[in-house]
Order: sequence, then structure tokens, then C-alpha cells
Amino acid sequence: MERQKIKSILKNGDTLVGQTLYVCGWIRTIRDQKSFSFIELNDGSSLANIQIIVDANMESYDSLLPLLTTGASIGVTGEVVTSPGSKQKIEIKSAKIELFGECPNDFPLQKKRHSFEFLRTIAHLRSRTNTGGAVARIRSRLAYTTHRFFQERDFIYLQSPIITASDCEGAGELFQVTTLNLNNPPRTDTKEIDYSQDFFGKAAYLTVSGQLNGEAYATAFSDIYTFGPTFRAENSHTSRHLAEFWMIEPELAFADLNTIATLAEDYLKEVIGDLLTHCIEDMQFFNQFIDTGIIERLTHVHSTPFKRLTYTEAVSILEKSGRTFQYPVKWGSDLQSEHERYIAEEHCKSPVILTDYPKEIKAFYMRENQDGKTVAAMDILVPKIGELVGGSQREDRLDVLTNKMVKNGLDPSLYQWYLDLRKYGSVPHAGFGVGFERLVQFVTGMENIRDVNAFPRSPGNCEF
Ligand code: 4AD
Ligand code: MG
Repeated sequence: MERQKIKSILKNGDTLVGQTLYVCGWIRTIRDQKSFSFIELNDGSSLANIQIIVDANMESYDSLLPLLTTGASIGVTGEVVTSPGSKQKIEIKSAKIELFGECPNDFPLQKKRHSFEFLRTIAHLRSRTNTGGAVARIRSRLAYTTHRFFQERDFIYLQSPIITASDCEGAGELFQVTTLNLNNPPRTDTKEIDYSQDFFGKAAYLTVSGQLNGEAYATAFSDIYTFGPTFRAENSHTSRHLAEFWMIEPELAFADLNTIATLAEDYLKEVIGDLLTHCIEDMQFFNQFIDTGIIERLTHVHSTPFKRLTYTEAVSILEKSGRTFQYPVKWGSDLQSEHERYIAEEHCKSPVILTDYPKEIKAFYMRENQDGKTVAAMDILVPKIGELVGGSQREDRLDVLTNKMVKNGLDPSLYQWYLDLRKYGSVPHAGFGVGFERLVQFVTGMENIRDVNAFPRSPGNCEF
């Protein structure tokens, strides 16, 4: 008999009563009473389990029962019946149970609450918990809606390279990729490591962003996006930083800062709206157990225009706030996460698009504004997380960009291909990056970024 997923069985509910079905999954709990046992079975397709009733008169019941433990995997053939209990509409009366894999009682996910810290140490099993399952389903749906959003708008999907020789953000937070013998690397006459003998004939790294390649594609296809893994060797031990995270990076030709600010707002609203309709069961779980009120707050975000402020206005709000921050606020300094959170959480109480940052604190590729002091940059700050999106209009003037690179200590000869995009048919263009894990945090209310990536990589941690 063809296997049915629990999600679809529960969705079809009453209409299945009387039918015999085959369902597989892992036992979440089992209660045995004198003449029956009740199994809560989950196959990951939904948060809800299906209840299986096992009659003590079932063939081989006595030999099977001791093996039907929490965590064991089984297949059940049985009839759908109306449930007398109030918790569920239907349940399955098993006629036959097939045991795929036993689960000894040292299985760490016994029926009790576990801390997220503990669950991180068993990342290979934590997807079998309610929270792990709900996060994974939301994350998967967000990825799907992301592609749909951009595809419906005729954006071309670029799979940008993971290995690169350029430092997109110019921040030097690169993981190096090499096949040189680290114990005895080849040296040049001046005793420096001789990368001409390395695999790529030069030093290579894991990419921090697909943007530079995205710009090449945007200057051919107008509108493009990337969606893939990016890597940062920054030694940040925070609840919002990973060493490996996913980023969505649209890049648009014939566009300015305003175009992308609006696109980013539309994108965030679309994915939120989609979750509130298509993943409402999982969202209700987050609302009840993780972050009370999140559904209401997301509904508000979905229906309200984002606030827009310039960096300069934000600094003046912070100065007038009467707050003592750990890091002082001063025009020209980068905003710290405490500042970003104050602006989003307490001042705006909603997502806010901050624009026009001082040029000194932003990346070399951002377009300089007429004032000579600021660049056409934007960050979207959201309550509880701070920066969710970072983007800008790009410097499309060849001479200005070349000078800026030199000033920033980058060697223009290494970025020749990137400069070519300004030499041959340069266009005003702009784009942004959305941190995918931060987006998952924002929509679920999960506190720690390590709990929204299945197998997180962070300083000192590369298990699993
Ligand atoms: O602001 P960032 O560094 O911008 C860029 O990389 C640009 N190239 C994007 C572009 O314009 N195409 O990173 C973009 C977003 C941040 O706003 C944040 O959400 C996320 O990526 N991010 C991280 N997420 C998790 N862990 C980290 N270490 C992150 N660093 C940035
Ligand atoms: Mg940024």
C-alpha cells in the first residue's frame, strides 16, 4: 500500500474515515493501558502527530509492545476512525505494525523539555523535536517563497561561486582555501608563501557575498538574485552571527536606492504573508511556546509601511533618547547592535529602513552621495535582531570607484573584471543582501541563530 504523509491525512481528516491507510514515522510517545496502547506518531511533515490505537488483541502484540518505544520507527497499516478524544478529529486503528528500527532508552529525546543549549549538542537528532521540526518547515517554505517572489518578477537566479579570489566586503573576514602543505608551504625568494603554486595559482577564499558576481549578471540581465551559502571568519560569538550562513542577494540594473528599499520591503511582506497563510500551524506553535504575540506582530509588519530614516536622523534620535549606551553614539561611528535595536524596537516599534550612512563606515562599492560625506546605503533594522538586510546603490563611475578602492587599500588590478562593468556600458544599479538565518529568526522569534540553521558553524564549533 502506498504510504501517506501525516500532514495530508490530518488535512483530509473526516473524509478518510473508514479507509485503510499506511503511515510511517517515529514514535513520539506511547501510553499503554490494559487493552489498548496509544501511540503519537510523527513523520516530520507536520507539527501535529497522528494518534495510533493499538489493540492488545493485535497479532504479536505482546512481543512487539516492549519495542514500541519513544524514538522507534514504525509503519502502521490501519483504518481511519473518528477519534473519541477531543484533541484530534481522527486516529488510526492499527491492524498491523511493522518495526523498522528499535530505539533503546538512552535516546536523548525522551518526553521532557530540553534546553536549546543541550539540543545543539545533538543537532543530528534535534530536528525530531517540535521546535526543530517547525523551524525546518518554516525555513524550507521561506526558501520556496523567496524563489517564487523573484522568479515571478523575472529575476534570473545566479548560482554565484563559493570559491573566490575577491573580498567583496573588503573587511578581510575570509576563510582561506588552499591545497598547500601548511606544515611546509612553498616560499618565494622574499620568504613569503608562494601562492602561485597553490591550487588556483593564487590565494583563494570562501566567498563572503555573491554580490560582485551578481553585479556582472545584473549588467546583462537587468534583474538577478543569488541565494546561497556565504562565509565569514569573524570571531563573533553572538546570537546573530554564524561563520556559514545563507544570503539572498538581488541586484537590479537601472535602479537606485529607493527601488531596492521598496523591493526589500515588498519581499519581506510577501514571505511573512505567505507564512501566515501556509504555515499557520507552525506559526501558532512559535506564538504559543517561543515568542508570545509574534503572529500579531508579524501581521502588523505585513500591513504597515516600513519607517524610513536617514542615518543622520537615527543618530539624532539616539542622542536625544536619554539612554546611556555601552558604545557612545557619534555621527560617523558605525551603529552598534544596541543602537540598531533601540531604533527598531523602542523608537519605531517596527522594521525601519535606515539610509545614507557615512562613507567611511561602509563598503568600497557603495555610491557616494552628492554631499561627499555619505553613501547611498540602506540597512533594514528589525526589532529583536537589528540588521536584517544590508544593501546599497553601487558606485557606477569608473574613476570614482577606482580611487575609492585605492583609498580602501584594495588593489584595483585584482578587481579588473569588476571595474570592466563600469567601463563597458555602466548603468546605475543597486542591490541588497538578506541574511536568511536572521530572517528565520525574525519570523519565528527564535532567540539564537544557532537554532535556525540545522548544522550551525560558529567559532570553535564545526560538529556534525
Ligand atoms: O550587510 P552585509 O555584510 O552585506 C553584504 O554582504 C552585501 N554584499 C549585500 C548586498 O548588498 N548584496 O550582509 C548582508 C546581511 C546582513 O544584513 C545580515 O542579515 C546577514 O547578511 N549577515 C549575517 N548573518 C549571519 N551571520 C553573519 N555572520 C552575518 N553577516 C551578515
Ligand atoms: Mg551590513
